[in-house]
Amino acid sequence: MILSITGFMGCGKSSVGRKLSQLLCCPFMDLDAVIEERVGRTIPEIFANDGETAFRDIEKETLKDILASNAENPQSDRRQNPLILSLGGGTVMTPECAEMIHEKTMCIYLNASQETLVNHLESEASARPLLSGTNLRDRISELMILRSSTYEKTAHVIIDTDGKTIDCIAEAILSEL
Ligand code: S3P
Repeated sequence: MILSITGFMGCGKSSVGRKLSQLLCCPFMDLDAVIEERVGRTIPEIFANDGETAFRDIEKETLKDILASNAENPQSDRRQNPLILSLGGGTVMTPECAEMIHEKTMCIYLNASQETLVNHLESEASARPLLSGTNLRDRISELMILRSSTYEKTAHVIIDTDGKTIDCIAEAILSEL
């Protein structure tokens, strides 16, 4: 099975995903990293050269391919050999992606408050095209209004992460498996 991790930029999807893959001794994939490798450019470069719509198409096709290749793996097993897949913060906003994620993966939403997100993103906003060149706090608030219900609907499990360490969040996820 695939255990996917969703949530806003800066909520800790990749760190928690890596931790889970260590604890479960199973493979880990970061959707953004797979996209960058596939296209041969960074996410900011894709946004700058091709725009968000093109990025969302690449994101959808890459997700489809990952899900298809895992479905073909007969050894795929819910507990013994899951694939941990950390999604991009906006992946679920493409309806076709949200549907695939909900139907074909066990999806965990890492729910962080806007305060926590601001703290995590302050030093990293420039690596995120959707956050650059704007007031960080306002932008997070604006996007969270648009996204939070979709995160909640798409996920099977919601973990509140405020004040928790990566280890603690990973343990909370394990207890849901
Ligand atoms: C995005 C989140 C990013 C990346 C892209 C768009 C978003 O991933 O996919 O910049 O729309 O929230 P992270 O959530 O890993 O930063």
